[in-house]
Amino acid sequence: MNKFELTPAFFIGHKEIDADHAALVSLLNKMVDAYMAEDLTACHDKWQQFCHKLEIHFATEEAIMRQFEFRESAGHEEEHQEIIKIAKSLGEGCTTLGGWETCLFTMRDSLLSLILKRDLKFAEHLVTIGYNRV
Ligand SMILES: [Fe+2]
Repeated sequence: MNKFELTPAFFIGHKEIDADHAALVSLLNKMVDAYMAEDLTACHDKWQQFCHKLEIHFATEEAIMRQFEFRESAGHEEEHQEIIKIAKSLGEGCTTLGGWETCLFTMRDSLLSLILKRDLKFAEHLVTIGYNRV
């Protein structure tokens, strides 16, 4: 299974947010390693760590967005809650390698882009207010 990659197109331009996104991708890649090693316990552990990190990241990010008076964040927090729910439900009850495979594919093919894409508007905001250059 391919590893996840955080491409420069998804860099937000805020140190803490970008570091969190990189940490989330790294945890998913550790989950891929666990899957490749057919280590079900490690799959479960890495998934749990990912969900925990995701909750912390979203809370941090919401605070940062408020600090930068990012008005378009309306709906962002509800979306975050929804993503956490999905991430948790994907791994819940996974007891087989096939189950973890489906979980990983869904994380890679849909959840990760959901997590990252919405933040691109915040990246634009940081440029608009002069915090970042293009
Ligand atoms: Fe984010």
